[in-house]
Amino acid sequence: MRFQEIISCVQACDTLLEVGCDHAKLTELALRKGVCKRAIASDISTLCLEKAKATLCGYNCVEYSVCDGIPANTNADCILICGMGGHTIRDILSRYDGNATLVLSPQSHAELVRGFLNENGYAINLDRCFESAGKFYDVIRAENGERKLSAMQIKYGADYKTHNVALKKRLLRVLENLRGGGEANAERIAEIEEVLAWQK
Ligand SMILES: C[S@@+](CC[C@H](N)C(=O)[O-])C[C@H]1O[C@@H](n2cnc3c(N)ncnc32)[C@H](O)[C@@H]1O
Repeated sequence: MRFQEIISCVQACDTLLEVGCDHAKLTELALRKGVCKRAIASDISTLCLEKAKATLCGYNCVEYSVCDGIPANTNADCILICGMGGHTIRDILSRYDGNATLVLSPQSHAELVRGFLNENGYAINLDRCFESAGKFYDVIRAENGERKLSAMQIKYGADYKTHNVALKKRLLRVLENLRGGGEANAERIAEIEEVLAWQK
């Protein structure tokens, strides 16, 4: 399921910060699996943070922060931002200048997140599409570094040339819809066919 897929992309770390934690189910799973020693659960909404406190009440290694974006001077070595649109994640990252590892799962517009990382000194070292409960998601892990992406990698995933069953299924579905739209979609169809040629 979605939580398991995302947490499997978080490497062992000291302090995990979840930005926009809501009920903090992701943080709870990370703690339960021993992926992190400590955690910071943060959200822009006080109400959401109350939900997080209820989920994590059994853990005394968690701090809480009501905050728009990434809390200032955070000591987290891994930052998790999931379940928000690509515009919001890009905005949050644009106000951060630390060097934690980022694990990001935008609900939409993953290309905006990849584009931001590409232009701002991050190297994406994992970029995976997965399917959960009939929906498709992206999860991206990045660190400070250099890995320049092509326009195709930004749009379809840094690792679109690596075989991925979910990516293939997602793009076949998009292709089916685009084909109904005729000539206007020709360019997009050609791009997707190029990606699918790597997914045989
Ligand atoms: C759909 S929930 C995602 C919860 C969890 N991260 C997950 O993936 O299951 C999005 C959460 O992001 C929070 N949020 C939205 N904008 C935010 C911001 N700028 N800073 C911090 N939290 C934000 C919302 O309050 C909400 O709790």
